[in-house]
Amino acid sequence: MATEKTFYLETFGCQMNAHDSEKVIGTLRQQGYRQVESEEDAGLILYNTCSIRDKAEQKVFHRLNDSKRLHKEGKRFGVLGCVAQQEGEKIFERAPYVSLVSGSASYRKLPEMLTRLEAGETRITGLGDRQTNETFETEFTARQSLYRGYITIVEGCDKFCSYCVVPYTRGKERSRSSRSVLNEAWRIADLGYTEIQLLGQNVNSYRDPEGKCSFAELLAAVGEVPGIRRVRFTTSHPKDFTRDIVEAIDRVPTLCNHVHLPVQSGSARVLERMGREYTPEWYLERIGWVKAARRQISLSTDIIVGFPGETENDFIQTIDLLVEVQFDCVFAFKYSARPNTPALKMIDTVSEDEKAKRLQVLLERQRNIQKGNYSKRIGEIIEVMVEGLNSTRGQIVGRSSQNIPVNFRCAQPIAPAPGSYLRVRVTVAYPNSLVGEVV
Ligand code: SAH
Ligand code: SF4
Ligand code: F3S
Repeated sequence: MATEKTFYLETFGCQMNAHDSEKVIGTLRQQGYRQVESEEDAGLILYNTCSIRDKAEQKVFHRLNDSKRLHKEGKRFGVLGCVAQQEGEKIFERAPYVSLVSGSASYRKLPEMLTRLEAGETRITGLGDRQTNETFETEFTARQSLYRGYITIVEGCDKFCSYCVVPYTRGKERSRSSRSVLNEAWRIADLGYTEIQLLGQNVNSYRDPEGKCSFAELLAAVGEVPGIRRVRFTTSHPKDFTRDIVEAIDRVPTLCNHVHLPVQSGSARVLERMGREYTPEWYLERIGWVKAARRQISLSTDIIVGFPGETENDFIQTIDLLVEVQFDCVFAFKYSARPNTPALKMIDTVSEDEKAKRLQVLLERQRNIQKGNYSKRIGEIIEVMVEGLNSTRGQIVGRSSQNIPVNFRCAQPIAPAPGSYLRVRVTVAYPNSLVGEVV
């Protein structure tokens, strides 16, 4: 009797990695594998890895080191994702018990790689060069949520910001056809999904290979799929952010009134060195479009502090930009030098202590901004999509269309199911969430 094929998969990194894992799980199931919850129970242990900052990469190697002891039991190990693509065969040297190393651009070949693994091969690689035109589409996606469905529309990135590994780890930018994106949207709407999140490292540089529609048109078309109540998209690049995206949000009510537009820095000099291809003025012009919309669109951003050469004055310009825009949410990171990137050759002038200090100052300022923004919402009635239950606080947790976490108590004996939509009156505002009551 053949032994059962089982796998354990752990995911690090961004939503794109999370969604890749859903496709990998679906592919493995299709190959006769069963997913298990612990490494101990699995015949094949997979890590889908992230390399965006050094800490993320180190986490994976620690994880591999921790689970090394399991190798004696004859388990197989595979490293997938961005660290796999970046480090390639070096992973076999660092962790000799690993048998499979594959970047995301090679997942189409997974069935073939699994067959070789089962035949006992121990040095299997999927590290195809970054020039691939193919996207990884599969009907076997094993979505982890029953109500929020991710759909990839663009893979890879051609921007080559000077600090970033993504163009090297995910390859050349390539878009899926709008036909195939819309087919998937219809299919998951039929399955009962009500929220769709369109994914890409740079969704607004979307180019339909069949030439049928622009990003804004695709966005609107997804929003018009019957049954869909919310559409989100991440991430947008300021260089490619066009006015028709704002017009689409104004016109199509299912498009969430939230735009995540990473700025990285408020200093023209630093942006130039980052290779971002825009100035603070260019960025603020796009923010102006969003603020001029009829709907109240929430704004969020990403910031890197302590980029090589960032002076105190550059940093103050970033703070000034945060004060001017009044974002509802900011993801801020200390600059981390990454392999292969041009910034690696720049002299890292800002000490670790100074980076930490700047990050602290920035987060504190932003906290006050959010406190102000969120308290203006007290008294408003907003639609919340339920995500789950926080049992320690006895609260239902959910999210508004603007992507703000909203927690509330529910008087009904049975808690509303995840994925349901409720109207909630905001009663309390914290810097990172709202509290309310069901109306
Ligand atoms: N494609 C998106 C961002 C993807 S990575 C964009 O262009 O905006 C997510 C965030 O990680 C980036 O916005 C940036 O703020 C941060 N990041 C990327 N590389 C980094 C590095 N080397 N050090 C610190 N933060 C980094
Ligand atoms: Fe990285 Fe820049 Fe591409 Fe974003 S746009 S993924 S920061 S290279
Ligand atoms: Fe990390 Fe790769 Fe995403 S580096 S952030 S998993 S694209």
